[in-house]
Amino acid sequence: MARRFDAEKLVIASHNAGKVREIAELLAPHRVAVVSAADLALDEPEETGETFADNARLKAEAAAAASGLPALADDSGLCVVALDGAPGVYSARWAGPNKDFGHAMERVRVALDDTPDREAYFVCVLALAWPDGHVESFEGRVYGRLVFPPRGDKGFGYDPIFEPVGEDRTFAEMDPAEKHAMSHRAQAFDLLMAACFAAK
Ligand code: IMP
Repeated sequence: MARRFDAEKLVIASHNAGKVREIAELLAPHRVAVVSAADLALDEPEETGETFADNARLKAEAAAAASGLPALADDSGLCVVALDGAPGVYSARWAGPNKDFGHAMERVRVALDDTPDREAYFVCVLALAWPDGHVESFEGRVYGRLVFPPRGDKGFGYDPIFEPVGEDRTFAEMDPAEKHAMSHRAQAFDLLMAACFAAK
């Protein structure tokens, strides 16, 4: 059985403003005070893992150890089926040092060239680590297809090229509440809530 979260405050172990905003929005109904790793000026650990789960765990453990508070980390990315799952755990790195996602999306388009298979999915692993080293992890996925040119100005990262199954709008054309109702992050979040936060 998963360990239950009973602290008053949680560190969101991310320096990515888009992710921190989405996680804070998802946590809002659960009456937990949140602070981000950037607010606490925590070091950003190097993401040396080969899987989303490894990277989520190492970020959560580092923030919990440094802050003395439970810490929630998200490791996520876009997996393109015709590219054997790339960019995958390298999704952030494809944007280069300037975190330019226009560049990253163009890199995906060029790599796909005229491949007709546009299937892709986002993966999110959420890891909740306690300062004593205990960790609980949960994974969510959302399937869809890639569209070019990118469309929409909401969301972040690869949202403008991702159309979830059953939609004719990209994530970047949806309001945050619509994306939250179906995203990989929301699905991982629902599992986390049910296991560690239910009835809080
Ligand atoms: P990391 O988890 O910090 O390694 O970064 C994951 C990267 O995947 C982000 O910087 C985004 O580029 C991309 N990504 C993850 N989730 C989403 C999403 O919900 N929308 C768009 N891009 C995402």
